[in-house]
Amino acid sequence: MKPSPILTVKDLSVVFPDSNGGLHALENISFEVCPRDFICFLGPSGSGKTTLLKILASLLQPTTGEINFSGNRRPEVGMVFQQSNLMPWRTVMDNIKLPLELDGVGESEARAKASEMIDLVGLNGFEDSWPRDLSGGMAQRVGIARALIHDPDLLLLDEPFASLDALTRERMWTELSRIWQAKQKTVIMVTHSINESLFLADRVLVLTQRPGKIKLDVEVDLPRPRKDDIRYTPHFGKLARKLRDAIE
Ligand SMILES: Nc1ncnc2c1ncn2[C@@H]1O[C@H](COP(=O)(O)OP(=O)(O)OP(=O)(O)O)[C@@H](O)[C@H]1O
Ligand SMILES: [Mg+2]
Repeated sequence: MKPSPILTVKDLSVVFPDSNGGLHALENISFEVCPRDFICFLGPSGSGKTTLLKILASLLQPTTGEINFSGNRRPEVGMVFQQSNLMPWRTVMDNIKLPLELDGVGESEARAKASEMIDLVGLNGFEDSWPRDLSGGMAQRVGIARALIHDPDLLLLDEPFASLDALTRERMWTELSRIWQAKQKTVIMVTHSINESLFLADRVLVLTQRPGKIKLDVEVDLPRPRKDDIRYTPHFGKLARKLRDAIE
């Protein structure tokens, strides 16, 4: 039996005011997310992907439409941005525990939780490093650790690996899959990359060019854990083809 959704989005539209009667960023977006789903939104530049994540993180209000979270409380949301957005004057440890500090959590508890996250993302030994001394992949790991420290119900990822080289990026896919499975999180990620979406997601929703509408909703029925060579299988190729056709 399918679990009941933790998030239901219905007929969401976003129009940004401009001098031309409004810029339509998203139109009639509806979808459901179940606990522990890994959902990818795949879409070209300007299709409203970041706008959608900002709405889900309550950083932006939709023009019309409904967003309902199950239960009677707003869920805790963690967001990882395209640029890692670390504070350059804080060490890895101090960046990761920042959200807890802001919440008034005591120093020793915050350090203990941050250490656990550092372990999870594989940054042991770099606790006292400065952001400027980290590689792009390491900086994104810090961003992921910081987003997870609140134990969020929903993890939102905005093209977190877009600025990484191809090999690092592939390594991060495996890492993220492992973290997702270990922490049993619900994840919504946006990306430009077909391979990335198929490697990670349970479901891929393809957005059209602006205004972003859902053009295709594909279940990714590839076995897990997914290894690097899965992309050479015929089924992966078939799914990739379907997504590519939808985007073009
Ligand atoms: N605050 C804003 N005010 C006005 N227009 C905006 C605002 N934010 C986004 N837009 C416009 O909405 C459209 C969608 O933007 P958005 O950043 O969501 O796209 P995206 O899919 O994330 O693109 P990319 O892949 O390049 O990151 C764009 O045309 C953008 O210019
Ligand atoms: Mg964006």
